[in-house]
Amino acid sequence: MGGEMEHKFCGVYLSGTGNTKYCVSRLVKLLDEGAPCVAIEDMVAPSAVAAHENIVLGYPVQYSNAPKMVREFILQNKELWRGKNVLCLATMGAFSGDGAGCAARLLKKCGAKILGGLHLKMPDSVCDSKLLKKSKEEKRDLIRRAEEKIGRAAEGIQSGKYPRDGLGFFAHIVGLLGQRLWFYGKTKNYCDKLKIDGARCVGCGVCARLCPMKNLTVEESLAVPHGKCTMCYRCISVCPQRAVTLVGKEVVEQYRLEEFLGE
Ligand SMILES: Cc1cc2nc3c(=O)[nH]c(=O)nc-3n(C[C@H](O)[C@H](O)[C@H](O)COP(=O)(O)O)c2cc1C
Ligand code: SF4
Ligand code: SF4
Repeated sequence: MGGEMEHKFCGVYLSGTGNTKYCVSRLVKLLDEGAPCVAIEDMVAPSAVAAHENIVLGYPVQYSNAPKMVREFILQNKELWRGKNVLCLATMGAFSGDGAGCAARLLKKCGAKILGGLHLKMPDSVCDSKLLKKSKEEKRDLIRRAEEKIGRAAEGIQSGKYPRDGLGFFAHIVGLLGQRLWFYGKTKNYCDKLKIDGARCVGCGVCARLCPMKNLTVEESLAVPHGKCTMCYRCISVCPQRAVTLVGKEVVEQYRLEEFLGE
């Protein structure tokens, strides 16, 4: 992590299927070319926070909340946030109300100053549900609009005007009533509902290698979940056998952002 103090910004993110990583990296690049962006499961994530004054913290909205892993990362590194300036970036498939506000409120309690909030609508990552599914064209269009919004946000930030998505009182109420109140149980703890189809799984270990929570192991050629899933959907989106499900009973469409970039 040499030379990080030369940079004003750093990005830290949880990203299951690539949306949040892409959005955080793009914003940080526009704000501070060459500044580091690290995944929260990376060992160096706490030291990246410690070494930077301004942080873009990104995550996917889940049931109008910040994922459990993100909330735990904030609280486990409580002392590191004091005096930091944080912009919360939340990606979402449709709607969140106060997606950015969920982490912002926790960060404030840890002594951080909230610079702003940015909401970005991206293709949805729930590979085992038919809801919200879009055509390739619609997905590309969403990504293009998110890129434009990131560009406008970066211009504003450079002139001292930070976006305020999801931070106000009204957004808080909308987030609560829209979903969080009804679905809070889904994100309160880590999830133990991940299912592996034993007839499909070939024990290749791809899921276990990529899980940010190290929630999966392969035992006797079968993936085994251990009840500490943060619902990022990475394993579900990459399993070559389509053997993993969480919300639904079968994989409808594996989503990986990189398939829609650079075309
Ligand atoms: C378990 C789960 C719950 C989700 N809940 C919401 C939601 O409440 N509102 C929403 O707009 N999108 C929701 N989404 C969609 C994701 O927030 C969205 O696709 C996000 O951009 C994925 O980011 P990633 O690719 O960085 O993982 C949910 C996705 C998952 C996996
Ligand atoms: S990636 Fe799929 S096939 Fe490979 S071990 Fe995991 S569940 Fe089994
Ligand atoms: S088990 Fe799968 S969905 Fe759960 S945290 Fe790990 S990679 Fe993400």
